[in-house]
Amino acid sequence: MEIKIYDNAEQIAQEVGEVFIEAINAKSSIVLGLATGASPVPTYKYICEKYREGKVSLKNVTTYNLDEYVDLPKNDKNSYYSFMHEQLFNHTDIQEDNVNFLNGNAEDSLKECADYDAKIAKSGYIDIQLLGVGRNGHIGFNEPSNHFTKGAFKVKLTESTIAANSMYFDENPMPHYALTMGVGSIMHAKKIIMIATGKAKADAIAALVNGEVSPACPASVLQFHQNAVIYIDKDAASLL
Ligand code: GLP
Repeated sequence: MEIKIYDNAEQIAQEVGEVFIEAINAKSSIVLGLATGASPVPTYKYICEKYREGKVSLKNVTTYNLDEYVDLPKNDKNSYYSFMHEQLFNHTDIQEDNVNFLNGNAEDSLKECADYDAKIAKSGYIDIQLLGVGRNGHIGFNEPSNHFTKGAFKVKLTESTIAANSMYFDENPMPHYALTMGVGSIMHAKKIIMIATGKAKADAIAALVNGEVSPACPASVLQFHQNAVIYIDKDAASLL
Protein backbone atom coordinates (compact mmCIF):
# COMPACT_ATOMS: atom_id res chain seq x y z
CA MET A 1 0.00 0.00 0.00
CA GLU A 2 1.37 3.37 -0.98
CA ILE A 3 0.37 6.70 0.63
CA LYS A 4 0.55 9.95 -1.35
CA ILE A 5 -0.06 13.26 0.39
CA TYR A 6 -1.08 16.42 -1.49
CA ASP A 7 -1.83 20.04 -0.62
CA ASN A 8 -5.39 20.00 -1.87
CA ALA A 9 -8.20 18.08 -3.56
CA GLU A 10 -7.52 19.64 -6.99
CA GLN A 11 -4.01 18.21 -7.07
CA ILE A 12 -5.39 14.79 -6.16
CA ALA A 13 -8.03 15.04 -8.88
CA GLN A 14 -5.38 15.83 -11.47
CA GLU A 15 -3.08 12.98 -10.35
CA VAL A 16 -5.84 10.38 -10.11
CA GLY A 17 -7.53 11.66 -13.26
CA GLU A 18 -4.29 11.18 -15.19
CA VAL A 19 -3.86 7.63 -13.82
CA PHE A 20 -7.34 6.77 -15.12
CA ILE A 21 -6.83 8.49 -18.48
CA GLU A 22 -3.50 6.76 -19.03
CA ALA A 23 -4.99 3.37 -18.16
CA ILE A 24 -8.04 3.93 -20.39
CA ASN A 25 -5.86 5.02 -23.31
CA ALA A 26 -3.44 2.11 -22.85
CA LYS A 27 -6.03 -0.65 -23.27
CA SER A 28 -8.57 -1.41 -25.97
CA SER A 29 -11.13 -1.93 -23.21
CA ILE A 30 -11.01 -1.54 -19.45
CA VAL A 31 -13.21 -2.34 -16.44
CA LEU A 32 -13.48 0.34 -13.78
CA GLY A 33 -15.02 0.12 -10.33
CA LEU A 34 -16.47 3.51 -9.41
CA ALA A 35 -17.39 5.25 -6.19
CA THR A 36 -19.87 7.93 -5.21
CA GLY A 37 -19.65 10.53 -2.44
CA ALA A 38 -17.91 13.89 -2.48
CA SER A 39 -14.34 12.53 -2.65
CA PRO A 40 -14.24 11.44 -6.32
CA VAL A 41 -16.20 14.44 -7.68
CA PRO A 42 -13.15 16.58 -8.61
CA THR A 43 -11.59 13.56 -10.34
CA TYR A 44 -14.76 12.95 -12.37
CA LYS A 45 -14.78 16.67 -13.27
CA TYR A 46 -11.17 16.39 -14.45
CA ILE A 47 -11.94 13.34 -16.61
CA CYS A 48 -14.95 15.16 -18.14
CA GLU A 49 -12.70 18.13 -18.99
CA LYS A 50 -10.16 15.87 -20.65
CA TYR A 51 -12.96 14.14 -22.56
CA ARG A 52 -14.11 17.55 -23.87
CA GLU A 53 -10.53 18.32 -24.91
CA GLY A 54 -10.42 15.03 -26.86
CA LYS A 55 -7.74 13.53 -24.62
CA VAL A 56 -9.75 10.44 -23.65
CA SER A 57 -12.78 8.45 -24.79
CA LEU A 58 -14.89 6.28 -22.51
CA LYS A 59 -16.46 4.38 -25.39
CA ASN A 60 -14.74 1.13 -24.45
CA VAL A 61 -14.96 1.55 -20.69
CA THR A 62 -17.14 -0.76 -18.60
CA THR A 63 -18.06 0.41 -15.10
CA TYR A 64 -19.37 -1.24 -11.96
CA ASN A 65 -20.47 1.04 -9.16
CA LEU A 66 -19.73 0.02 -5.63
CA ASP A 67 -23.11 0.43 -4.06
CA GLU A 68 -26.69 1.68 -4.26
CA TYR A 69 -29.43 2.52 -1.76
CA VAL A 70 -32.28 0.05 -1.23
CA ASP A 71 -35.86 1.12 -2.03
CA LEU A 72 -34.89 4.43 -3.59
CA PRO A 73 -36.26 4.95 -7.13
CA LYS A 74 -33.47 4.58 -9.69
CA ASN A 75 -33.97 8.15 -10.94
CA ASP A 76 -34.30 9.75 -7.50
CA LYS A 77 -31.88 12.68 -7.30
CA ASN A 78 -30.07 10.93 -4.43
CA SER A 79 -29.64 7.55 -6.10
CA TYR A 80 -26.08 6.67 -6.98
CA TYR A 81 -27.35 5.96 -10.49
CA SER A 82 -28.36 9.65 -10.79
CA PHE A 83 -25.16 10.80 -9.12
CA MET A 84 -22.90 8.98 -11.57
CA HIS A 85 -24.85 10.21 -14.58
CA GLU A 86 -24.71 13.80 -13.36
CA GLN A 87 -21.06 13.75 -12.34
CA LEU A 88 -19.55 11.67 -15.14
CA PHE A 89 -21.57 9.54 -17.54
CA ASN A 90 -23.80 12.24 -19.09
CA HIS A 91 -20.74 14.31 -20.01
CA THR A 92 -18.79 11.58 -21.80
CA ASP A 93 -19.25 9.04 -24.58
CA ILE A 94 -19.59 6.06 -22.23
CA GLN A 95 -22.11 3.54 -23.53
CA GLU A 96 -25.09 3.06 -21.22
CA ASP A 97 -24.96 -0.71 -21.83
CA ASN A 98 -21.49 -0.76 -20.27
CA VAL A 99 -22.62 0.96 -17.08
CA ASN A 100 -23.53 -1.34 -14.18
CA PHE A 101 -25.21 -0.73 -10.84
CA LEU A 102 -26.59 -2.95 -8.13
CA ASN A 103 -30.38 -2.64 -8.35
CA GLY A 104 -31.55 -1.53 -4.91
CA ASN A 105 -35.15 -2.15 -5.97
CA ALA A 106 -34.66 -5.77 -6.98
CA GLU A 107 -37.27 -8.08 -5.46
CA ASP A 108 -34.68 -10.73 -4.72
CA SER A 109 -31.63 -8.90 -3.38
CA LEU A 110 -29.67 -12.14 -2.85
CA LYS A 111 -30.03 -13.00 -6.53
CA GLU A 112 -29.27 -9.41 -7.54
CA CYS A 113 -26.02 -9.49 -5.57
CA ALA A 114 -24.98 -12.92 -6.88
CA ASP A 115 -25.72 -11.83 -10.45
CA TYR A 116 -23.65 -8.65 -9.98
CA ASP A 117 -20.65 -10.63 -8.70
CA ALA A 118 -21.00 -13.08 -11.60
CA LYS A 119 -21.13 -10.23 -14.13
CA ILE A 120 -17.98 -8.65 -12.69
CA ALA A 121 -16.21 -12.01 -12.93
CA LYS A 122 -17.42 -12.45 -16.52
CA SER A 123 -15.99 -9.00 -17.37
CA GLY A 124 -12.58 -10.29 -16.24
CA TYR A 125 -12.79 -8.52 -12.85
CA ILE A 126 -12.05 -4.86 -12.16
CA ASP A 127 -8.87 -3.28 -13.53
CA ILE A 128 -8.99 -0.16 -11.36
CA GLN A 129 -11.26 0.29 -8.35
CA LEU A 130 -11.81 3.84 -7.10
CA LEU A 131 -12.73 4.17 -3.43
CA GLY A 132 -13.64 6.81 -0.90
CA VAL A 133 -13.71 6.03 2.80
CA GLY A 134 -16.42 6.59 5.38
CA ARG A 135 -15.61 8.42 8.62
CA ASN A 136 -16.00 5.05 10.33
CA GLY A 137 -13.63 3.35 7.89
CA HIS A 138 -16.28 1.88 5.60
CA ILE A 139 -15.51 1.13 1.96
CA GLY A 140 -18.43 0.96 -0.45
CA PHE A 141 -21.06 0.35 2.21
CA ASN A 142 -19.06 -2.29 4.05
CA GLU A 143 -19.67 -1.01 7.55
CA PRO A 144 -17.47 -1.90 10.54
CA SER A 145 -18.36 -5.42 11.70
CA ASN A 146 -16.81 -8.58 13.09
CA HIS A 147 -16.08 -10.21 9.74
CA PHE A 148 -14.90 -9.29 6.26
CA THR A 149 -17.54 -9.73 3.57
CA LYS A 150 -16.85 -11.57 0.34
CA GLY A 151 -19.35 -10.82 -2.45
CA ALA A 152 -22.11 -8.23 -2.81
CA PHE A 153 -24.78 -8.15 -0.11
CA LYS A 154 -27.57 -6.12 1.49
CA VAL A 155 -26.38 -4.05 4.43
CA LYS A 156 -28.05 -2.12 7.24
CA LEU A 157 -26.30 1.25 7.39
CA THR A 158 -24.80 2.43 10.67
CA GLU A 159 -25.85 5.57 12.54
CA SER A 160 -22.51 7.18 11.58
CA THR A 161 -23.15 6.66 7.86
CA ILE A 162 -26.76 7.80 8.13
CA ALA A 163 -25.63 10.95 9.97
CA ALA A 164 -22.94 11.65 7.35
CA ASN A 165 -25.16 11.11 4.29
CA SER A 166 -28.50 12.46 5.57
CA MET A 167 -27.56 16.01 4.58
CA TYR A 168 -28.19 15.06 0.93
CA PHE A 169 -31.77 13.95 1.66
CA ASP A 170 -33.80 17.13 2.12
CA GLU A 171 -37.29 15.85 1.20
CA ASN A 172 -37.51 12.12 1.99
CA PRO A 173 -35.66 10.36 4.79
CA MET A 174 -32.47 8.58 3.83
CA PRO A 175 -32.76 4.82 3.21
CA HIS A 176 -31.32 2.73 6.03
CA TYR A 177 -30.32 -0.17 3.78
CA ALA A 178 -28.08 -0.47 0.74
CA LEU A 179 -26.60 -3.08 -1.58
CA THR A 180 -22.83 -3.02 -1.77
CA MET A 181 -19.96 -4.86 -3.36
CA GLY A 182 -18.21 -7.00 -0.74
CA VAL A 183 -14.68 -6.48 0.56
CA GLY A 184 -13.59 -9.66 -1.27
CA SER A 185 -14.75 -8.25 -4.62
CA ILE A 186 -13.07 -4.91 -3.95
CA MET A 187 -9.81 -6.68 -3.06
CA HIS A 188 -10.03 -8.66 -6.30
CA ALA A 189 -9.43 -5.45 -8.29
CA LYS A 190 -6.02 -5.36 -9.97
CA LYS A 191 -5.41 -1.82 -8.76
CA ILE A 192 -7.13 0.18 -6.03
CA ILE A 193 -7.13 3.97 -5.72
CA MET A 194 -8.54 5.57 -2.60
CA ILE A 195 -9.20 9.30 -2.24
CA ALA A 196 -9.78 10.97 1.13
CA THR A 197 -9.70 14.66 1.94
CA GLY A 198 -10.49 16.77 4.98
CA LYS A 199 -10.09 16.54 8.76
CA ALA A 200 -13.23 14.40 9.11
CA LYS A 201 -11.33 11.54 7.45
CA ALA A 202 -8.17 11.79 9.58
CA ASP A 203 -9.26 9.12 12.11
CA ALA A 204 -10.26 6.67 9.38
CA ILE A 205 -6.97 7.24 7.52
CA ALA A 206 -4.91 6.74 10.69
CA ALA A 207 -6.76 3.47 11.41
CA LEU A 208 -6.39 2.36 7.81
CA VAL A 209 -2.66 3.10 7.63
CA ASN A 210 -1.42 2.38 11.16
CA GLY A 211 -4.10 0.24 12.76
CA GLU A 212 -4.38 -3.53 12.67
CA VAL A 213 -6.12 -5.11 9.72
CA SER A 214 -9.57 -5.69 11.11
CA PRO A 215 -13.20 -5.68 9.92
CA ALA A 216 -13.75 -3.09 12.67
CA CYS A 217 -12.12 -0.74 10.11
CA PRO A 218 -12.97 -2.33 6.73
CA ALA A 219 -10.59 0.02 4.87
CA SER A 220 -7.65 -1.45 6.81
CA VAL A 221 -7.83 -4.50 4.52
CA LEU A 222 -6.13 -2.35 1.85
CA GLN A 223 -2.87 -2.97 3.75
CA PHE A 224 -3.05 -6.47 2.25
CA HIS A 225 -3.54 -5.32 -1.36
CA GLN A 226 -0.47 -5.46 -3.59
CA ASN A 227 -1.38 -2.44 -5.70
CA ALA A 228 -3.35 0.03 -3.55
CA VAL A 229 -2.53 3.73 -3.55
CA ILE A 230 -4.08 6.11 -1.02
CA TYR A 231 -4.33 9.73 -2.20
CA ILE A 232 -4.95 12.09 0.72
CA ASP A 233 -4.65 15.78 1.49
CA LYS A 234 -2.77 17.22 4.46
CA ASP A 235 -5.91 17.38 6.62
CA ALA A 236 -6.76 13.71 6.07
CA ALA A 237 -3.10 12.91 6.77
CA SER A 238 -2.99 15.00 9.98
CA LEU A 239 -3.04 12.02 12.39
CA LEU A 240 -0.41 9.96 10.58
C1 GLP B 1 -20.56 6.87 1.08
C2 GLP B 1 -20.35 5.84 -0.03
C3 GLP B 1 -18.94 5.42 -0.11
C4 GLP B 1 -18.08 6.68 0.00
C5 GLP B 1 -18.15 7.19 1.40
C6 GLP B 1 -17.44 8.52 1.61
O1 GLP B 1 -21.47 6.48 2.02
N1 GLP B 1 -21.17 4.67 0.04
O2 GLP B 1 -18.69 4.70 -1.30
O3 GLP B 1 -16.76 6.38 -0.32
O4 GLP B 1 -19.46 7.23 1.89
O5 GLP B 1 -18.15 9.58 1.08
P1 GLP B 1 -17.57 11.03 0.89
O6 GLP B 1 -16.57 10.94 -0.20
O7 GLP B 1 -18.76 11.88 0.53
O8 GLP B 1 -16.98 11.42 2.18
